[in-house]
Amino acid sequence: MSHRDHRLRDDFTAQFGAVPDAEALAPGRVNLIGEHVDYNGGRCLPMAISQSTYAAVRLRSDTTVTIRSRQQADAWTGDVTRLGPGDATGWVAYAAGVVWAMRERGLDVPGLDVLVDGQVPLGAGLSSSAALECSVALALNAALGRPDSPDVRRALIEDCIRAERDVAGAPTGGMDQTVSMLGRAGHALLLDCATGRTTDVPWQPEAAGLALLVIDTRAAHALADGGYADRRATCESAAALLGVSFLAEVTDPEAALTRLAGDPVRQRRARHVFTELQRVDAAVTDLAAADFSAFGRLLTASHASLRDDFEVSCAELDVTVEACLAAGALGARMTGGGFGGSAIALLREADVDDAVAACTEAFDIRGWRAPRCLPAIAAGGARVLG
Ligand code: GLA
Repeated sequence: MSHRDHRLRDDFTAQFGAVPDAEALAPGRVNLIGEHVDYNGGRCLPMAISQSTYAAVRLRSDTTVTIRSRQQADAWTGDVTRLGPGDATGWVAYAAGVVWAMRERGLDVPGLDVLVDGQVPLGAGLSSSAALECSVALALNAALGRPDSPDVRRALIEDCIRAERDVAGAPTGGMDQTVSMLGRAGHALLLDCATGRTTDVPWQPEAAGLALLVIDTRAAHALADGGYADRRATCESAAALLGVSFLAEVTDPEAALTRLAGDPVRQRRARHVFTELQRVDAAVTDLAAADFSAFGRLLTASHASLRDDFEVSCAELDVTVEACLAAGALGARMTGGGFGGSAIALLREADVDDAVAACTEAFDIRGWRAPRCLPAIAAGGARVLG
């Protein structure tokens, strides 16, 4: 058990007067490539990172639910029989939403005490919300004495997605919860969102003298705001116009774009999805050949598409990408939902310090708060502690 696990357990015991029944951690993620394709039925390539959220759970003999965070002053208290959409708000909604979703699935969940310790930077586009959901889901699953298996995890992933969509109000596509639960150290996770099939893809740029740097721009990012839902709705309406359930089902993208020509916004959104899907396929090929230069070019092309066609970038992300490329990055792009949050850059190890300095200086010149840079190592997925 690490120092942090002990701290969570000690804090839990101090706050609730008894040791937790179970503890779990779940990581945040960066998405290497395949952005805004999960809800379009496409393939994406995220990886779990070492920054995680920790959750401790103890079942109660009544129906009271108390949720606390080591990062927040106030506890939230509710009743397990009355959880659901509209009950909890803010960060609590993600945790309470999971409890609700697991009950909705038919699990016999009594009242419970929950303490979370969130070590994934909030609002950085690194899926702190999925890490919170998945850590609570896995800890509660263990507290209930249920097994941990791939099938159980897939059911928990669905619970987490439901919590985020129906209780927290962010209609996200499932990539983040899936990689947080199923990620494997030293690998990215190729996720086919049409079938749910996952494949581990080796990701060890360190072996080639490279590093993946995350640059958190600290520009506000919240998926429960309207921009994400708007992009998703536009994609769904474009798919409906084209007579398919998901844009990824389109077999002739050129013909589809011609059909959307009278509607420039839908056409741009669809073009991002079509070209991004091609880039994911190319990325898998490049990684199999350990061709990081070609892979890097795909990252940069993905950014341009997200900026110009999908229009989910922002000045801070664009400046970061430009600064990293000028510092010698093989490629760079925004990662995650966009509208702020983080960028990633693939760099020679020798260029990392220059890239950090270049980003910091570019922000300073513009009077922006300094970005926060952290290395991203492909870490393992969620696990029960102890
Ligand atoms: C957020 C969502 C994901 C995905 C990405 C964009 O991270 O939670 O489901 O849609 O944005 O690729």
